[in-house]
Amino acid sequence: MTSKELFERAQRVIPGGVNSPVRAFNAVGGDPVYVSQGQGSHMTTVDGIELIDFCSSWGPLIFGHAREEVIDAIREASAQGTSFGTNTPREVEFAECLCDMIPYMDMVRLVSSGTEAVMTALRLARGFTGRNKIVKFDGCYHGHADYLLVAAGSGLLTGGITSSAGVSPSAVAEILVPGYNDLDAVRQITGEHGNDIAAIIVEPVAGNMGLVPPSPGFLAGLRELADECGCLLIFDEVITGFRLGPTTYGAICGVTPDLTCLGKIIGGGMPIGAVGGREEIMRSLSPLGPVYQAGTLSGNPVAVAAGLTTMKLIREEDPYPAMAALAKRLTEEVNASAREGNVEMHCACLGGMFTPFFSNEDVTDLAAAKLSNTKAHAAFFHSMLEQGCYLPPSQFEVAFISAAHTDKDVDSFVAAARTALNSA
Ligand SMILES: Cc1ncc(COP(=O)(O)O)c(C=O)c1O
Repeated sequence: MTSKELFERAQRVIPGGVNSPVRAFNAVGGDPVYVSQGQGSHMTTVDGIELIDFCSSWGPLIFGHAREEVIDAIREASAQGTSFGTNTPREVEFAECLCDMIPYMDMVRLVSSGTEAVMTALRLARGFTGRNKIVKFDGCYHGHADYLLVAAGSGLLTGGITSSAGVSPSAVAEILVPGYNDLDAVRQITGEHGNDIAAIIVEPVAGNMGLVPPSPGFLAGLRELADECGCLLIFDEVITGFRLGPTTYGAICGVTPDLTCLGKIIGGGMPIGAVGGREEIMRSLSPLGPVYQAGTLSGNPVAVAAGLTTMKLIREEDPYPAMAALAKRLTEEVNASAREGNVEMHCACLGGMFTPFFSNEDVTDLAAAKLSNTKAHAAFFHSMLEQGCYLPPSQFEVAFISAAHTDKDVDSFVAAARTALNSA
């Protein structure tokens, strides 16, 4: 059965034919692909087409597809039973491992997705501080909980506007939305609402408006403002945790949050999430404290086995310098092609993360990201796909280099991009 046939069948029984909207090609047009298998940096579609995968399942696959040790761990754990609804030894080992690799994580609670991790962190922040308001940045995505589906105008708003039907205005009334990297806007908000703010939540490197690194001093400034008004600082590291080094971005850049949300990489491709941080705050969680949180499959033994093995490989192999070098070369060579061809585009890059933005502007916030030419991006995406390179199907996402990508993969990407940009 072809991708086209499967998509037709899927649309009859699955809304939009996909189980997560980003998988549809709405932003770039055309029909999505169906994948039959992956190995390393490559995946094969049901149509028999081999693609170099620069989406990496939206971030989790730090070692690429079907890394042997991870698959062996999944096989071994699942043969022993897939879920018990009570405690297993590996959960303890995994929690110890995370607390060991993240210097400021005293305690951690495992959940099943990044969305759940963020929901738990915010409930914890509200329960711990006894306050309700949350500062959340324009263009940052923190999962699909009601109160985080907020779009903002430029600058700051004193009450969010929902960006999804089905979210009651009261759910977002307590969410305050400054622009990313706009410390003055945050200062204004904390000045006005300081005593009511439970938490400032931020992607320390933004990945959901394309790649937008923090400006120098931005994260340290947030730490200061959070301290001044007595609220918690939460780093949502669902993308960045273990992506830029064998720890969190907070630990790398030297800014310590009160709570950290994790997901993606820590599950080695299996469904998982985690929230952790200062012991005093974490002790507010049930059953120790009054903040309720639970999950039938939390700390699932198969997911934990995949996560533990991934962490072990990260420690043994330190794949970060090689991934960063590949992404840097890719970016420099694609940027050179864009300049030669007079195409308004540039790749932003940090470590093994990159985004080809179709504009010449430096992208420091959502407003700048939105200046990108999304039609040109869509044409680029399809040309790359035809030439065997799979990118995230939207301008406002991050592409990933995994430890399985090779120089040859980068050569293929650069050559394909040159062709795509020349025909732009
Ligand atoms: C920064 C960030 N936080 C939270 C989430 C939600 O994670 P999940 O999709 O696992 O629920 C995502 C998902 O992409 C994310 O990028």
